[in-house]
Amino acid sequence: MNSLFVLFAAVIPGAAAERWPLRAILARAVASPVRGGQLARGGFCYYRADMQSLTNKRILVGVTGSIAAYKAAELIRGLRDAGAEVRVAMTRGASEFITPMTLQALSGHPVHQKLLDTQAEAGMSHIELSRWADCVLVAPASADFIARLAQGRADDLLSAVCLARDVPLALAPAMNRQMWADAATEKNVRTLQQRGVLMFGPAAGEQACGEVGPGRMEEPAELMRRVAEVFETGLLAGKTVLITAGPTREAVDPVRYIGNRSSGKMGYALCAAAVEAGARVILVSGPSTLATPERVERIDVESAEQMLAAVLEHMDGVDIFIGAAAVADYRPRQSERHKIKKDQAHLTLELERTPDILATVKSRRPRVFCVGFAAETANLDAHARRKLEDKGIDMVAANWVGPAAPDTGGGFDSDTNALRLYWADGELDLPVASKDRLARQLVASIAQRYERRPPGRRQHHNIVELRGGTPRKT
Ligand code: CTP
Repeated sequence: MNSLFVLFAAVIPGAAAERWPLRAILARAVASPVRGGQLARGGFCYYRADMQSLTNKRILVGVTGSIAAYKAAELIRGLRDAGAEVRVAMTRGASEFITPMTLQALSGHPVHQKLLDTQAEAGMSHIELSRWADCVLVAPASADFIARLAQGRADDLLSAVCLARDVPLALAPAMNRQMWADAATEKNVRTLQQRGVLMFGPAAGEQACGEVGPGRMEEPAELMRRVAEVFETGLLAGKTVLITAGPTREAVDPVRYIGNRSSGKMGYALCAAAVEAGARVILVSGPSTLATPERVERIDVESAEQMLAAVLEHMDGVDIFIGAAAVADYRPRQSERHKIKKDQAHLTLELERTPDILATVKSRRPRVFCVGFAAETANLDAHARRKLEDKGIDMVAANWVGPAAPDTGGGFDSDTNALRLYWADGELDLPVASKDRLARQLVASIAQRYERRPPGRRQHHNIVELRGGTPRKT
């Protein structure tokens, strides 16, 4: 897809100062049963093996004033062990129960505490913090915090972040059983649930005050499992998705090739997102140093020709094909058998077109839902719509590259991007975000378009939009 030819190639300090000593948490965690999962990092934290969907997720953990605040330490450590990036926002009440220093050490980031603090806002404001997160989990969530959230208050950092977010929000309530049973709390919880807020718990049992009943915060391992579930949308359950990713290399001679600057990040992020959506995922990858996402079948290739052959070989049973690879448009007409010597003042390479993988798949398998990419330096709309028609595909995901994309990192090898999606009778903007988040949004859009294909090729499921842009299959 390019004309850009390139030739050739825990330590935990300050724990002793804690009101809830880390040693006690450690002892408790080690004593806890392993719940069908595995022990991580010398047995500090246990988590189930089905938590891959936490990998690379950005979780904002909110901590409010409750005796259960000490459990946030174990939760944060567990989330990080499972591969998530964690930031912490705590209320003033929370710092009466656990110090910010502990949570900073465990999360690896400064703890966010104040709204409109000039220094904090200059670093990561409440808006940036809410845009950073893939999911907000408030654990523990006190009765007072739940009440404030139900009222839509934004008078401290955590409540402002919750109000400003556009991602899933989950609360792990923790309070006395009578407070939980009170009609006011009940109404607040119902109000929040109607707005799409998720309630993780509370659990029932012996409480810190000595009473017994519902109101205990769920255990960290259970909270982790529930957060992992948030990302497991099931939108593509039962579907097989084949994705191409990375660049191709077109041999000039045994040591040189024509290649391009694609890193494969977007294609690999799409693989992970499709797995989370419940699909079986086959990846046909050009040369890339990226690790294969969990539960993905990967086939490595070098050239466009090899990529086409591998794709066609694995097309049986495929429902959705996503061409995220930066396939070279041209290759040398002839690849030299021996290394070319520099004995000429000028060298002319004659190039010929490579096969168009997307167009070939669509023409041979018209029932497969095909998605292509378009990286453009000008006239994004016109070029994207032309590709949609020329290749006869179902959706194009277009982005700016080069100088035209200063805010998105230029597309290639960047961790962020922005996309505009086009299909026959519509389009959708996906603003600048991490490639992981964009991949999830793109997969959700693909699932929606796939379900709305013309009758006869459609399967019947309802898709509902939840707040937080996380559609789920019902
Ligand atoms: N693609 C493909 N096979 C090729 C070339 C591209 O399958 N031989 C796919 C890419 O994976 C991507 C899309 O087609 O999904 C890109 O379309 P393409 O027409 O190659 O884009 P450009 O190279 O940008 O085209 P042009 O230079 O004509 O704008």
